[in-house]
Amino acid sequence: MIRIDIATLFPDMCESVLGESIIGRARSAGHIDIVCHNIRDYTENKHNRVDDKPYGGGTGMVMQAQPVYDCIEDIKSKTSLDARVIYMSPQGKVLTQQKVKELAELSNIIILCGHYEGVDQRVLDELCAEEISVGDYVLTGGELPALILADAISRLQEGVLPNSDAYTLESHYNGLLEHPQYSRPEVWRGREVPQVLLTGHHDNIQKWQEEMSLAVTEKKRPDLLYNHRKNGKPYAQYVRIQGREISKSGKPFDIMAYARKLCHSRVFTNREVKQFKRIEEWFKQNLPDPVFDDAEYKKSAVIYYKSAAAVNILEMLMPVLDILTEHNADFDIIFTNTPGKIVYEDDVRIAVI
Ligand SMILES: C[S@@+](CC[C@H](N)C(=O)[O-])C[C@H]1O[C@@H](n2cnc3c(N)ncnc32)[C@H](O)[C@@H]1O
Repeated sequence: MIRIDIATLFPDMCESVLGESIIGRARSAGHIDIVCHNIRDYTENKHNRVDDKPYGGGTGMVMQAQPVYDCIEDIKSKTSLDARVIYMSPQGKVLTQQKVKELAELSNIIILCGHYEGVDQRVLDELCAEEISVGDYVLTGGELPALILADAISRLQEGVLPNSDAYTLESHYNGLLEHPQYSRPEVWRGREVPQVLLTGHHDNIQKWQEEMSLAVTEKKRPDLLYNHRKNGKPYAQYVRIQGREISKSGKPFDIMAYARKLCHSRVFTNREVKQFKRIEEWFKQNLPDPVFDDAEYKKSAVIYYKSAAAVNILEMLMPVLDILTEHNADFDIIFTNTPGKIVYEDDVRIAVI
């Protein structure tokens, strides 16, 4: 059974949530062990102060190192000296289901909640705390984020939900969003439940659910399709790399045309021109057939490449992309299943391919 310890200045706030509903029942039934600790109990001053003004000035108070450290060390001595320490922080990596799955495998986790301006950096360094964020926005304290993390980890523990289907067949578990759900009545305000769900034909229902899962993901979160594989192949079949500048055709420049334009306008250094020319030559020799989104107007059409070839192309393009970055010439990498329709845009994750 996993044990989660939460170190906070507001244990009652955490308890009030953790005592309710599915998590509350799972705790009572002994499927998970969650213990909240008051950092204030570890102060060494007579006023029980846990915070002080920040060095260097500025608004707000900083949680001091000593009570935080002593609280965490005390928890470790009662649980495990190797327990993973997580600091909820807007500066951390944003929490994903993948991360939740990883943490759910551990037997001891200590979650530290900051408050005010946060926690003295030295104690985070001393504890080697891993920072996790619940999103790119700032809250007043780490309690709500800690509860989110504890909830997400808890529902993956045996006995908490009726069976593993309850969490594996959910959005994000396998990288996609879940298909839509319906319940009684069959018709509500003229809206019908999809017929296939009423047939009782298990295979057809499963096929429908898989198709809907892909369709919903493509519509609501196309970025998730970037990492999705179907039969071992990337689900997004085409890639386009384009400059952010618009060409005469009214569409953004294809990446090579964009680099060529900058090359001709003497923005590149001599070394960069040489490098670009070498890569351009490779492209002339090796470029796979482009796929056009507009067969009639090939010249002004946006060009996509099949993503099997794209791995090669991206590798080859890397020095060009470096040169463009050097000259602050922004570009986008777009993954799509339907040329002409953007499925995924990012100019950072190129190295992952
Ligand atoms: C007001 S915030 C401190 C923000 C900090 N001064 C900064 O600018 O990075 C107070 C505490 O709330 C928690 N917190 C706020 N936003 C969060 C987020 N998005 N994810 C996780 N924890 C968050 C952290 O524990 C943090 O120490």
